Amino acid sequence: MSHTNQTLGEFIIENQASFKYTSGELSRLINSIRLAAKVVNHEVNKAGLVDIIGAAGDTNIQGEDQQKLDVYANTKFIQTMTNRNIVCGIASEEEDDFISINSQDKNHQNKYVVLIDPLDGSSNIDVNVSVGTIFSVYRRVTPVGTPVTMEDFLQKGDQQVAAGYVIYGTSTMLVYTTGDGVNGFTLNPAIGSFYLSHPNMQFPETGRIYSVNEGNYTHFPQGIKDYIKYCQMEEGDRPYTSRYIGSLVSDFHRNMIKGGIYMYPKSSQNSKGKLRLLYECNPMAFLAEQANGLASDGFQRIMEIQPTQLHERVPFICGSKNMVRKAEEFMRLAP
Ligand code: AHG
Ligand code: MN
Ligand code: MN
Repeated sequence: MSHTNQTLGEFIIENQASFKYTSGELSRLINSIRLAAKVVNHEVNKAGLVDIIGAAGDTNIQGEDQQKLDVYANTKFIQTMTNRNIVCGIASEEEDDFISINSQDKNHQNKYVVLIDPLDGSSNIDVNVSVGTIFSVYRRVTPVGTPVTMEDFLQKGDQQVAAGYVIYGTSTMLVYTTGDGVNGFTLNPAIGSFYLSHPNMQFPETGRIYSVNEGNYTHFPQGIKDYIKYCQMEEGDRPYTSRYIGSLVSDFHRNMIKGGIYMYPKSSQNSKGKLRLLYECNPMAFLAEQANGLASDGFQRIMEIQPTQLHERVPFICGSKNMVRKAEEFMRLAP
């Protein structure tokens, strides 16, 4: 079948046999994410029309203002997965603790836990700039039929069985991997179906875009400052061009298509940077590696870090292989 008219639903069925575990459970899980994505997309796109934008008044566990759409997206994704009885546990950037599903039911055989950043780039909602949803899926490590525990969520990123994001942009896309490359699907809003538009997505080995919040420059480690200066130097294919949206999903998506590097380093103010290992960095790292890119904290592979807390943060450098390697070189010289 030509990729131009293959829907996400058809793609999932066709590729189910290539999943490591073929119970169909993971397919149902991706299907439920597809459904929630459509619902949230509908809401995001009318954000300018109705009074849904603006802070909800609550702050999340990281002490940041929660936007109304964060709450909406959080509820929709959790509801969709809970109601359809698809996973045994969910952890969300917007929830203090993980949620155990059907923990009293011994017949409950679901094997997967999901971690989500329901709305990424939320500070961009009010200004009509693309936002996204990030998700990450693991097989539980505790026995099926028992309540999930923290151990099921604190797994290294290299244990992920699936990860992806939805980008609510000029068009809405769902991009995901189950460990066999990365594929991108674009929503046809007239029909309400996602179509395979970007099969086998790959980061170019090297790119010409660097994405970092340079407002924090004076607080960055010397290695990052030196790498930024290197990006700006007139030599060979440099200077590179600077692009920073402030929505990780959008910055990553552009860099994957065009070639580039995204950095959220530690700073003298935040010793672990800003991004969350479990909800943001691990899923993006899995996608990056599946798309011929790399993701590092400056010294080691993101996906080899042993998490110790649900909401922990980590410095994040991600993108085209040669660029990430170069940034690591600078970090080693001046950590
Ligand atoms: P979230 O909206 O889920 O809190 O994530 C925002 C993140 C990420 O998407 C983005 O790249 C980064 O924060 C931007 O941070 P700065 O505004 O500090 O650059
Ligand atoms: Mn985020
Ligand atoms: Mn968020």
